[in-house]
Amino acid sequence: MSTGGAGGRRRLPLSLRRHAVPWERQRPTWREARPAVIAGALKRAQARPSGNWYVVGASRDVRGDRPLARTVAGQEVVAWRDAAGRPVAGPGICPHLGAPLRDSPVRCGTLVCHWHGLALDGVPFAGWEPFPAHDDGVLLWVRLDAVGGEPPLDAPVVPRRPAPARALTAVYAGVGTCEPEDVVANRLDPWHGAWFHPYSFVDLTVAGAPDGSHGSEDGFTVDVSFKVAGRLVVPVRAVFTAPGPRTVVMRITEGEGVGSVVETHATPLGTDERGRPRTAVVEAVVAASGRPGFALARGAAPLLRPLVRAAAGRLWRDDLAYAERRWSLRSTGRFPG
Ligand code: FES
Ligand SMILES: [Fe+2]
Repeated sequence: MSTGGAGGRRRLPLSLRRHAVPWERQRPTWREARPAVIAGALKRAQARPSGNWYVVGASRDVRGDRPLARTVAGQEVVAWRDAAGRPVAGPGICPHLGAPLRDSPVRCGTLVCHWHGLALDGVPFAGWEPFPAHDDGVLLWVRLDAVGGEPPLDAPVVPRRPAPARALTAVYAGVGTCEPEDVVANRLDPWHGAWFHPYSFVDLTVAGAPDGSHGSEDGFTVDVSFKVAGRLVVPVRAVFTAPGPRTVVMRITEGEGVGSVVETHATPLGTDERGRPRTAVVEAVVAASGRPGFALARGAAPLLRPLVRAAAGRLWRDDLAYAERRWSLRSTGRFPG
């Protein structure tokens, strides 16, 4: 792969597209986007161990005054911070008479059931057994051995990220009617970027796709430009990998923001009243830049976060529609191929 262009990219983070190609005139990607390549990458992702760890939300949503509540594969889970600020998690059903602990307050690190005052401080009590919890600084993970059924791991497989001191972090969460594999399959199809998200991406070329023989190098290499405004774009090279069965990571390897990652985590929630699967998508953007001015951006993080989230929200409305469509076709035997 040529990296000659990348040096230029590094010196010049923003480019002006001189010859903007109309959407319908861009090169079709469907011949390269072979279903078997995507299916193969998905299958290898699903074979990787998760150790039964599930992303349940953003670290900053694990608070000291009320629990973060999530249903994972039909199991009610609550998480909060103990008196020392450590994350604790466990079933969201009070062991006394079943109150929904999601509605109970936390006082001084103790979750106090609002029905009769049973107090949980994170250790086994009255039949309530905590789940292992892991706060990686960006996301909270909970280990559910009964749900995962894999050999448990002491800690989740957390992707490599830029150092927090030079990174801007945002977490977006959405929910769709599909299974985690539909979310992962969408992310392992980089060819749809410029066609399906023309408001965000242009000039997309997949420079390398895995053939299954690369072991740890199992990733898609993509040259793409992010649209900033009008004809102003930021060209980058990004690599997509699936380090676990429910996680896809996009890492910028050349161009502005080298080392930045977008992690997409899919967590099964359970089924809706019609028996259809629901899946949460938790996406962490950990953006890094060595540029001056980025320090400023970090100071403005509370301001920028909603913007980053809004951008992710627009992409995810479309990508969730893709994942939901995939599930709908799969579940009715109409998926092509
Ligand atoms: S149901 Fe929680 S204390 Fe009674
Ligand atoms: Fe997409």
